Amino acid sequence: MDIRKEAFGDLNGQQVDSYTLKNDHGMEVSFITYGGAVTKILAPDRNGRLENVVLGFDTLDDYIGHTHYFGAIAGRVAGRIGNAQYSLNGETIDLTENEGRNHLHGGNEGFNCVNWHEEEVNIASDSVSVKLSYHSRDGEEGYPGNVKVYAAYTLTNEGGFLIEYSAVPDRDTPINLTSHSYFNLSGDASSPILDHTLQIEGDAYLPLNGENLPAGEIRPVEGTPFDFRQPRTILDGMGDSKETKEGYDHPFTLKKDGKIVLSHERSGRMMTIETDQPSVVLYTGNFLTGERLSGGNTAGRHKGLCLETQGYPDAVNHPHFPSVMVKAGEEYRASTSYIFSVDK
Ligand code: GLA
Repeated sequence: MDIRKEAFGDLNGQQVDSYTLKNDHGMEVSFITYGGAVTKILAPDRNGRLENVVLGFDTLDDYIGHTHYFGAIAGRVAGRIGNAQYSLNGETIDLTENEGRNHLHGGNEGFNCVNWHEEEVNIASDSVSVKLSYHSRDGEEGYPGNVKVYAAYTLTNEGGFLIEYSAVPDRDTPINLTSHSYFNLSGDASSPILDHTLQIEGDAYLPLNGENLPAGEIRPVEGTPFDFRQPRTILDGMGDSKETKEGYDHPFTLKKDGKIVLSHERSGRMMTIETDQPSVVLYTGNFLTGERLSGGNTAGRHKGLCLETQGYPDAVNHPHFPSVMVKAGEEYRASTSYIFSVDK
């Protein structure tokens, strides 16, 4: 087990570092302090060939210049908040509008575009980890309260990549963090993810309104293009439904301890996601347009898919969704493991 640390770039005079966690089987997870963005995951295919299974860039300028949250931590609240507003105890809180009149992924300067700091580095015989922190200030993007946020990234020798978040605010505030990696298990970012097989252990999804916000209904997946209770390919799921014409960008509810399994038949790669979060947003890279990626590839529609485990989007405006509010002095915690294996 090993950790390599290198300088990655300069952000207004602050050094941005890159870390690579490595296990004894050659698996590697790389990320940078800018946005806590995962830049590379090398995972073996069924023949032991290690290839990158996430879309990433070579330079800091690319991360700064591209707006699609490549590999980054989304927060203080992931997803959209309708009208960039919510109310609490009769008070209206106004957030930054950064997608039309709505608020998306924490605003203009969300957790994806700030430089995180190293808190702790651990090398054990069966795992390696780095804990990052970020101090989000009172009023940042409209959110109340100071919050010290931690994100710990761990790679195990068994092929598990674990992300654990924790945060304590000093005023009541919503907190909902997720990781925005675009996975492509083929290892070839030029090949669309429509042939990936997906299973989501959950019975419902949240239909969207015209602005990609949850409309409010929690609808059973049965008989819809959202029924991934049994494994099926993304292409098969989409079918010719109007609702999934562009691909998926939808929240799915998860059963307690419900898993998500993504697999790719040709390479034999599998990724099993375990989380304590109540939902996952499946986003099939519908807005990607030709970003120049590391490895010489070019991104594009459906070249990667995100599985964003989190609390329900826009929960602050839907009292019947599980709350994402965290009280002053209380601790927010969330954890998700991405376990890589091969189907022989
Ligand atoms: C999330 C959203 C998408 C899109 C991407 C970023 O996944 O759900 O609609 O905004 O982020 O491009």
